[in-house]
Amino acid sequence: MCGITGYIGGDKTTDVLIDGLRRLEYRGYDSCGLAAVDSKNSLYLKRVSGRVDALDKLVAEDPVKGARAGVGHTRWATHGAPSEDNAHPHTDCSGQVVVVHNGIIENYLELKDRLLASGHKFRSETDTEVIAHLLEEKLRSLNVQAAAVRSDLLEPVFFEAFRRTVGDLKGSFALSAVWSRCPGMLLAARMHSPLVVGLGEDENFIASDVSAFLKYTKRVVFLNDGELAAVRRDGVDYYNFAGKKTAKDSVTIQWDSTMAEKGGYKHFMLKEIHEQAEAVENTLRGRLLPLGGDILRTEVGLSAADLKAFSSVQFLACGTAHHAGLVGRALFENFGIPAYADVASEFSDRAKLTGKGALVVAVSQSGETADTLFAVREAKASGARVLAITNTVGSTLTRESDYVLYTHCGPEIGVASTKAFLGQLAAIYLLAGHFAAARGRLPGGDARRYAEDLLKVPRLIEETLEKEKEIARVAETFSSSDHFLFISRHVNYPIALEGALKIKEIAYVHAEGYPAGEMKHGPIAIIYKGMPVLAIAPSGRALELMAGNIEEAKARGADVVAVVDPSSRKLVKASRYITLPEVSELFSPLLTVIPLQIFAYYVALAKKCDIDKPRNLAKSVTVR
Ligand code: M6R
Repeated sequence: MCGITGYIGGDKTTDVLIDGLRRLEYRGYDSCGLAAVDSKNSLYLKRVSGRVDALDKLVAEDPVKGARAGVGHTRWATHGAPSEDNAHPHTDCSGQVVVVHNGIIENYLELKDRLLASGHKFRSETDTEVIAHLLEEKLRSLNVQAAAVRSDLLEPVFFEAFRRTVGDLKGSFALSAVWSRCPGMLLAARMHSPLVVGLGEDENFIASDVSAFLKYTKRVVFLNDGELAAVRRDGVDYYNFAGKKTAKDSVTIQWDSTMAEKGGYKHFMLKEIHEQAEAVENTLRGRLLPLGGDILRTEVGLSAADLKAFSSVQFLACGTAHHAGLVGRALFENFGIPAYADVASEFSDRAKLTGKGALVVAVSQSGETADTLFAVREAKASGARVLAITNTVGSTLTRESDYVLYTHCGPEIGVASTKAFLGQLAAIYLLAGHFAAARGRLPGGDARRYAEDLLKVPRLIEETLEKEKEIARVAETFSSSDHFLFISRHVNYPIALEGALKIKEIAYVHAEGYPAGEMKHGPIAIIYKGMPVLAIAPSGRALELMAGNIEEAKARGADVVAVVDPSSRKLVKASRYITLPEVSELFSPLLTVIPLQIFAYYVALAKKCDIDKPRNLAKSVTVR
């Protein structure tokens, strides 16, 4: 839930750390801090409860002199309230060792008791602080006669103490440590939390994610679980937790740092909403034609024969990604392929029922969502094979899955997922098309038509986005409403859920997404005069029943906003309409979700909510 940065190189240490922290704020933003070793080998430490801007101000008021190595951290609280004391970095008793950490140390209470008993003084309520004291303890046990020893000769001692410290930890961690007596090396370790090394010229970086240092380098090395890195200005060495050196390859990241900036929009969320045509186009490019052949074999590792052999498809995901999985279920079922979709955190018992022949499709923008990773491990233990649909190259999910189908959306910074959802849908439509064609479910010209229709979607998304102002006006009329209802049917039912989730998370209002046909079984009782009901009613087999459900809501006083296309508009009687381009019902979720994202955005804007960083939320949820 936190972001960590580290730098070793020239004299721009605090600038690099702060810049990186700003870009990592999407990972957590209740407090932050940085530490660096100054020219006199003393530790410089600044922490604030709040955002990186406040930290930047603090550093500017009292700048460090001659720092060439340091670490930074932006936090989302897990142990201990958001406060300056609990903000990272954390130090040991001597104030020479400093640690930043993302994850949860499961055995921290036991370690803390031991350290307290041997006289250590703790200043925070965090699990992380135990790491600093443990490291101090290990350094002491290696019997360093400090004053006499040159700092470079201390490097093996620091490494060994760090390695032993890591060996005592249970749980998840991406962590980095600096020792002020050994300023030429910073150390990093990874276990179940993401960590990347950035390779520069006469400088090197570490971070939770590449966006922190993309401005300086695109050459990166992804650490795996159980790996350590000793990062010096002129190079990086990698080891396993047993201390054995390992060779690692670097990869060059294609994203550039301006892609991760707002590009003229008021919020990342709005910018990302406008990037959705591109996200879909990039995800589909070169992967569709011919459908049902072996086109996924080289990239993903799935041949047409594999697609024929799976007995069923089981989607696993959380939040918005789960809604993509629900659309996937409807799509696969539409092709007569047994499909299931579960919230990852509720999968446990079903994992045992997932047969060996099933393909588990784990959908996750970040590829680091703990609930999804855990469910994947359970599915694998039951013998299923796992395909990851993710936006994050090198993420944990990609390493734990048998197959990976990347969405190509670029970094998504807004906490509310928008373009990543469209990318996930595109990947799922792509996959469903290949499955269906390989199994003879798209006979004759149907496969080609399916592919061609899908390839038209990016242009239709552009057309839909042109409705932004109109949708904004509708949203503004409802900006003081406290309750919203989203209804739909069939393949658009998950879109009703997604519309409700979007407005809940960014505008902090109560919203429900419901299958329209289910309303009469109870929920219709909540409708009051003037209640906003957003009804997703494109043309197709669900339309007639939807039109009836809209009448039922209106009869109870609902103020219905209908999301329609020109044909369905003729059948649906609502107070207001948002009219989208015509598209086949099967593909309609790729368009119908867009007005709901824009609607939520403008309600939140009118309410002056912190749209990109909604309260209580973090972009990447790495705890269960
Ligand atoms: O990174 P993931 O796709 O695994 O994230 C899953 C959910 O945490 C995420 O979709 C969350 O629901 C979003 N904030 C929704 O906008």
